[in-house]
Amino acid sequence: MGMERRGSETLPGGDRLQASRQVGMELASLGPMFSAPRPPGAPIVTGQHSPLLSLRGITKVYPGGVVANDNVFLDIYPGEVLALLGENGAGKTTLVSIIAGVQQPTRGEIIYQGQRVRFKSPRDAARAGIALAPQNPRLVDAFTVAENIALAARLAGRKLGLSEVRSRVKKLGEDYGIEVDPDARVWRLSMGEKQRVEILKALILNARLMLLDEPTTHLSPMEANKLLDLVRRLATEGRSIVLITHRLREVLRSADRIAVMRKGRLVGVLRREEATQEKLLHLMFGERMPLGLVSRRRGPGDETVLVVEDLWIRGEHGEIAVRGVSLNVRRGEIVGVAGVAGNGQRELFEALVGLRRPYRGRVLVAGVDVTNARPSVRGRLGVAIIPEERLGWALVPGKSLVFNTALGLYSVPGGPFRGFVVDWGRARAISKEIVEHMKVRVSDVDAPVESMSGGNMQRFIVGRELSKKPSLVLAMNPTSGLDVDAAEKVR
Ligand SMILES: Nc1ncnc2c1ncn2[C@@H]1O[C@H](COP(=O)(O)OP(=O)(O)OP(=O)(O)O)[C@@H](O)[C@H]1O
Ligand SMILES: [Mg+2]
Repeated sequence: MGMERRGSETLPGGDRLQASRQVGMELASLGPMFSAPRPPGAPIVTGQHSPLLSLRGITKVYPGGVVANDNVFLDIYPGEVLALLGENGAGKTTLVSIIAGVQQPTRGEIIYQGQRVRFKSPRDAARAGIALAPQNPRLVDAFTVAENIALAARLAGRKLGLSEVRSRVKKLGEDYGIEVDPDARVWRLSMGEKQRVEILKALILNARLMLLDEPTTHLSPMEANKLLDLVRRLATEGRSIVLITHRLREVLRSADRIAVMRKGRLVGVLRREEATQEKLLHLMFGERMPLGLVSRRRGPGDETVLVVEDLWIRGEHGEIAVRGVSLNVRRGEIVGVAGVAGNGQRELFEALVGLRRPYRGRVLVAGVDVTNARPSVRGRLGVAIIPEERLGWALVPGKSLVFNTALGLYSVPGGPFRGFVVDWGRARAISKEIVEHMKVRVSDVDAPVESMSGGNMQRFIVGRELSKKPSLVLAMNPTSGLDVDAAEKVR
């Protein structure tokens, strides 16, 4: 970690600076600076402690010119849960990436434990006790859970043997209710389980500041509640937590303070007691409040598009993951499959989309038996697929939106393929339509897909799949990571 001492800088954008300073002043006027441990469950009074970390005028301009963070001033206090809210593309992930050393700010400074710091890499931040559980977990797929954590520990300057990591994963998992098999290989884990691994990693490295980027998106409501209880518990132990989420109920339930971003700027910081859904939505969306959205749906028709007959599927270890599921889905009908992650939904989804062979039973799409057919056969029958994992599954990283549109619409009648030749003009036109229709925020359709924020990637994938005008949509967590406005649209 490199400490830097430079003279004070003048920052551009004087008026905004003024507004943000006022927020800072209000906090400062709340009480004298002293640090007393907070009794469990007691409300946090900011200003009684000095901040653990302060952002001063953080600005991030990505290559390409997107201003993702615009002069952000924000304090994070010891022992608090600070929620970070904002619509898709507001700049939340960018802000926590800067704190965690993943991204470098274009301007502004970070004060951590009273000193100006500059984290040149995630390793610097990890060594200083800052852990990021990213929106798209970054784990080594081929390694086991324990190997991943041991690797992270080594990078953070701590040598931990595999057997020690393994026993700590088990112990912490039991203590905190976030059990994961330490010997499981990461590629087999669900997104929810991967997020648990990220949190376990932070616990094992004993992080003081934990940045959780949408940790509950892939969890069932019950699991999400459990995680939020855990987050509260970690805060009462004196850790600071930054929690990014799109679920207002979670925010109102578990945050001490709520910071709202819009278009890169910090537009307000509220204490939980003064926050309401309406106030938060207003801060997030301004005049374009998505309240009162009514979803209009036609009732289901008579035509049956999907039949699942007595499906039995084995999981990774040969265990029986799905026992005799039968389903009938009619055109225009939404059928939800609910349950705790790891209870067979993933296996069922994989079998429905053609990635896993059931050992008993049948799947029929539009009357055609596709039980053992490849995914492309389903495509021709008008099936759209929205998988849980965005990068790698639904999107090819490093490639543009246009490329990903072309690839995704391969085998779709009226799509950009003429035989084996791509009509790039057509692919570009469709990409633009998707971006417009789903309000995807991206600099342009030639940008690589990973330059989109998580929620914008999801909008793009959903838009592309719906552009197929499918008769059947197989979706796993389709509204994950979407702000309320976009989530409503998907439904
Ligand atoms: N690597 C990158 N290169 C270029 N632009 C980027 C990059 N990462 C993010 N952006 C842009 O910066 C803006 C903020 O993105 P960010 O990921 O911080 O948003 P977010 O608030 O986390 O959104 P979401 O709720 O969708 O996850 C967006 O307009 C996004 O397109
Ligand atoms: Mg994000």
